[in-house]
Amino acid sequence: MFYDLARRFMFTRDAEWAHEFALHNLRRFNNTPFSAAWSQSVADRPVEFLGLQFKNPVGLAAGLDKNAECIDAFAKMGFGFIEVGTVTPRPQAGNDKPRIFRLPESNAIINRMGFNNKGVDNLIHNVKAAQYDGILGINIGKNKDTPNEQGKDDYIHCMRKVFEHASYITVNISSPNTPGLRDLQYGAALDDLLQSLKNEQLDLIAKHNKQVPMLVKIAPDLDAVQIAQVSESLLNNNIDGVIATNTTLERAAVHGQQYADEAGGLSGQPVRERSTQVVQELKRLTAGKLPIIGVGGIDDAASAKEKFAAGADLVQVYTGFIYKGPQLVKTILQGL
Ligand SMILES: Cc1cc2nc3c(=O)[nH]c(=O)nc-3n(C[C@H](O)[C@H](O)[C@H](O)COP(=O)(O)O)c2cc1C
Repeated sequence: MFYDLARRFMFTRDAEWAHEFALHNLRRFNNTPFSAAWSQSVADRPVEFLGLQFKNPVGLAAGLDKNAECIDAFAKMGFGFIEVGTVTPRPQAGNDKPRIFRLPESNAIINRMGFNNKGVDNLIHNVKAAQYDGILGINIGKNKDTPNEQGKDDYIHCMRKVFEHASYITVNISSPNTPGLRDLQYGAALDDLLQSLKNEQLDLIAKHNKQVPMLVKIAPDLDAVQIAQVSESLLNNNIDGVIATNTTLERAAVHGQQYADEAGGLSGQPVRERSTQVVQELKRLTAGKLPIIGVGGIDDAASAKEKFAAGADLVQVYTGFIYKGPQLVKTILQGL
C-alpha cells in the first residue's frame, strides 16, 4: 500500500532522482517511527550456503546501495542477505546523466551508471556504522581510468580493504558500463585475475583467521563456449561461487519501446529467461560443484522458483524490487 503510493509518485520523476530520493529517505527516517512503512517480518527460511547461515534465500542485488548507506533499512525489509557496491578503490562520478531509464511495459530498466560510487574507504565507514549483523556481501570493481592490465590491482586493493567487513566478496567483471571490463571474463585474462585473487584471498584468510568466500559475477551475454570456459576457470581456481547474472546488452525483448535504444545494461523481466539459462548451464557444466546465486528478472515467487529449479542456491532481486517494493521479499518467501 505504502509502496504503491510511493512508487506512483517516484515513477513520475526522473529515475535517478527517484533512486536518490528513496535512499535519502530510507537513511533519514530509518531510526524513526516512519520506518514502519518499509519494515516487515518475513517467514524464517534458514539456508546454509558457503559455510554461512542465511535467514532466508532472498537477497538484495548489488548496485542499489552502492555506498552501503542504507543497510539497516534494507535489513528491516526482511532480505536474507544484502550485497552492497560495486565499490572501486577511488571515488568516481560515473557516466553523464541521464543514465537510468525505466521501461515499464516490460518491468525493466536500462542503466549505464558506470560504477558511480564514493570509494572503498567511504563504504567501509558506512558498513562499520551499520547495526546489521546479517550476511553482507561486498561487491568490488575497478576504477574506469585503471587500464585492464592493472585492473587486478584495483580488485586486490578493494579486497584487502573490505575483507574484514564482508561475509562474502563479489568480484564484478560483468558490468557493461565500464569500457573493457567484460574482457576480464575471457581466456587468459580471466585465469590470471582469478588466480591472483584466489592467492590474495588465501593470504587474507590466514591473516585475519576468517573465512570470506569469493564469488564472481558474470554477464548473461556469454555464449555456450564462453560459459564453458568461465566454468572451467572458476573450478580450476577454486572460486567459491558464482553470481549469474548481471544486466544484458541484448535488446530484442524490448524492441520498439521508449528508451530501448539507450546504451547500457537491460535488467528485469527481459533478462529473466537468459539468466535462468546461464544458471542452468553453470549447474550442468560444473556438475553441481559450484554454488550459484541466481539473479535476473525475478519479480514474483514463480520467477524465483525458476532460478532455484535451474540450480541456484540463493536468489537476488533488483529491478523487480523497484517495480514491486519490499512486499516482493515476502511474496517470494511465501511462495517457495
Ligand atoms: C540501476 C542498476 C545499477 C546496477 N549496478 C550494479 C553494480 O554496481 N554492480 C553489480 O554487480 N550489478 C549491478 N546491477 C545489476 C544487478 O545487480 C542485477 O545483476 C541485474 O540487474 C539483474 O537483476 P534484476 O533483473 O533483478 O535487476 C545494477 C542494476 C541496475 C538496474
